[in-house]
Amino acid sequence: MILIIDDDIAVRTSLRLLLKQHGYAPEAVATPAEALRMVENTPPELVLMDMNYSLDTSGQDGLRLLARVKRLRPALPVILITGWGSIALAVEGMKAGAAEFITKPWNNEALLQTIGTVLALAAPDAPDPAALSRRQLDAQYDFRAIVGQDARLLHVLRSVGQVAATDASVLIEGESGTGKELIAEAVHQNSRRSRQPFVKVNLGGISASLFESEMFGHRRGAFTDAKADRQGRFELANGGTIFLDEIGELDLSSQVKLLRVLQDRTYEVLGDSKPRRLDIRVICATNRNLAELVQQGRFREDLFYRINLITVRLPALRERPEDIPLLVQHFVDGLRATYHRPALKVGTRARHWLQEQPLPGNIRELKNLVERAVLVSGKDELGPEDFQAQFQPAPRVAAAGELPEPGTITLDALEAQMIRRTLEHYSGNISRVAKALGLSRGALYRRLEKYAIPFDAE
Ligand SMILES: Nc1ncnc2c1ncn2[C@@H]1O[C@H](COP(=O)(O)OP(=O)(O)OP(=O)(O)O)[C@@H](O)[C@H]1O
Ligand SMILES: [Mg+2]
Repeated sequence: MILIIDDDIAVRTSLRLLLKQHGYAPEAVATPAEALRMVENTPPELVLMDMNYSLDTSGQDGLRLLARVKRLRPALPVILITGWGSIALAVEGMKAGAAEFITKPWNNEALLQTIGTVLALAAPDAPDPAALSRRQLDAQYDFRAIVGQDARLLHVLRSVGQVAATDASVLIEGESGTGKELIAEAVHQNSRRSRQPFVKVNLGGISASLFESEMFGHRRGAFTDAKADRQGRFELANGGTIFLDEIGELDLSSQVKLLRVLQDRTYEVLGDSKPRRLDIRVICATNRNLAELVQQGRFREDLFYRINLITVRLPALRERPEDIPLLVQHFVDGLRATYHRPALKVGTRARHWLQEQPLPGNIRELKNLVERAVLVSGKDELGPEDFQAQFQPAPRVAAAGELPEPGTITLDALEAQMIRRTLEHYSGNISRVAKALGLSRGALYRRLEKYAIPFDAE
């Protein structure tokens, strides 16, 4: 049974009808007192709760009711309904234990999707995933591309398996090169959307002025440079999954636009005011600490709660050194096949040595290191010295004479050159390149785009 709490009879009636039509058993009440009685005596599986009661517009009644429901039944999922003007209230509610929030006027499909997701996550018959071993996980899901047995990684894989089948939004946090994109793909591949598109968007590379046209598309003539119609990323991803990478780089004005779409599941193409429906699974990733950005006022709290229904934190490679030999093995297997070198292998000593390296670029750095060592050494059995040789020496300071002669190069060209060299130096590791150049990742991406410098977007 789903309990609807709203003092507006029109809302109660339409919600009840909608839920009934979709096979749920709804009950609707008008007051907090009735609601609490129901929660105590005939506990529902889910509560849909309005936050704005006509007598008290501050929403304090709603928050109080939520707190009492959670005290009676801590595990009972509650979805809050608030007006757009009072999203702050929804955020308060999320902190107090609500599972999700929707805004009025709601979109029926988005509401049903949210209900389905929240119910699936709370299902009592869901197997206790805490016990699944790597082998059991592999029997149930397709995690072929993901190597590792570390307890923290298994914890991630269990969460991924559990939520993959739902439409829950997933936030993936982790340092650069820890496998965030790989995990995002695994969520998609193990979902019912696996045959639909998986569209990756690097939000760090999209400037505020282009955000709408990139994401929502535009009609020809919508603005001066719109020479032809353009499909937005959301449209390309419709029916499937959209992967919003580097979400921590998004500027505040784009954040509110993104929030609106995720909220209403509708959007408008620039130059065409007809709203379009969106059926989409959202996965976000970041190598920053979003909670911290929220505290600094650089990331909207409501958007944060909108995207992090499930948060997955990927361990750094140094936290799971036991997986290093397995990963090395995996990369060498790949190279053996690619380069037809059946005798290729990495010696025991080298594997131990690699395990002790700090590898701040994580799995991507390890992969590049193995690849370079194999290609450069040309040997069949690699020892520690072959890997050691690949660690780049500290960059030397260029002598003044090494700068080009004045009048021979523009500052832009010089900048582009320096970015190319730094990219090469850090084997494409964007975080380290940005740091070395003293730029934010966003600023670096914009320059990469400006100079059309190809970079490894994996
Ligand atoms: N568990 C794993 N098993 C095998 N390969 C992995 C694993 N994790 C990551 N990789 C490989 O390491 C590389 C980096 O992974 P990925 O691009 O997913 O990292 P990321 O966290 O998105 O990095 P960034 O923050 O730099 O975007 C990829 O080539 C990926 O295939
Ligand atoms: Mg990535």
